Amino acid sequence: MPVYPLAAGYDLGADVAMLASNECCFAPLPEVVEAAAGALTGAHRYPDPAYAPLRRALADRYGIPPQRIALGNGSCDILLAAGEALLEPGAEVVYAWPAFSVYPHLAAASGARAIQVPLDDEDRHDLDQVATEVTVATRLVLICNPNNPTSTAVSLDAIDAFMRRIPSHVAVILDEAYCEFSLTLGDTYASLDLLRKYPNLVLLRTFSKVYGLAALRVGYALCGAEDFRIAVDQVRQPFYLNAAAQAAAVEALAHQDEVERRVTETIASRLAMEDAVRGLGLWVAQSDANFIWLHLPETVEEADVVAGLRSRGVLVRAGVALGRERSLRVTVGTDAENERFADALAAVLAG
Ligand SMILES: Cc1ncc(COP(=O)(O)O)c(C=O)c1O
Repeated sequence: MPVYPLAAGYDLGADVAMLASNECCFAPLPEVVEAAAGALTGAHRYPDPAYAPLRRALADRYGIPPQRIALGNGSCDILLAAGEALLEPGAEVVYAWPAFSVYPHLAAASGARAIQVPLDDEDRHDLDQVATEVTVATRLVLICNPNNPTSTAVSLDAIDAFMRRIPSHVAVILDEAYCEFSLTLGDTYASLDLLRKYPNLVLLRTFSKVYGLAALRVGYALCGAEDFRIAVDQVRQPFYLNAAAQAAAVEALAHQDEVERRVTETIASRLAMEDAVRGLGLWVAQSDANFIWLHLPETVEEADVVAGLRSRGVLVRAGVALGRERSLRVTVGTDAENERFADALAAVLAG
């Protein structure tokens, strides 16, 4: 089993710019914290096994029936359940690489074969190659859009053209954990049009990023057909989503203005970070997410740069742990954190 590359530094205390895990730098709203705390008074009971209020809130927001919405203990939970439900020895799962570090677990846990398709020269998905790798053995395709760790997105027109090439019995999960931050994808309703066309498509999303609830673990999937939701529910324990997490997620959905504000601020900071990195003469991908992805020059060792940043109180992710050496993935943080990162990187590269 591949070991998930966990971020270090959670023990380092407050004076650290934690830019390693693509979290949201904004804390949950007081109303959201209050909703979660309120749920604790009923903690002697199991949570609602139908997750009805959250399912209903998502169904209302996205205009799809509640029975086509899968929920999970983070979207990772849904991903792993999809692997368990759909894969077995002899089957194949196809995805680009580097992409989200959890994807290799699906094949490893099920005995299926993982087909990893290299990204193109701009560190984007090469959907043409991904489609070429689909065979009679393929059960599942994973498309990370925007892609973690490289931050790039492919257009929905390209996804549409890709879906036309995929047989309808192959499940395609479009992992949209960062879609809210994407200018390429437009608004968060845009990809729902594809669900109407392709029953084998699943849009995987999370409350861990723009909604700022990473520690509570709530993910969801908007499914083109009900059978995906039934499949992932069948392989999991009944109570995978705790009551505080459910309550917080329902409340968070009621504050979309705040979500918009966060997105606007994050995109502005991201552009400033990209400029700062380019100003140092480095290549940086065109980001559609709440993090950036840069390549380091041949003249420096990735480990030295990561260590140098860490010694200056800045934690980032080394590309080697994410599938591509001599790269860094850096989360967009607060203005102060971003400046600290840019200054520290300049100092480290100056030697
Ligand atoms: C692309 C992608 N998908 C899914 C997830 C899982 O998020 P969670 O399990 O917190 O919902 C992450 C987390 O970093 C991610 O980067």
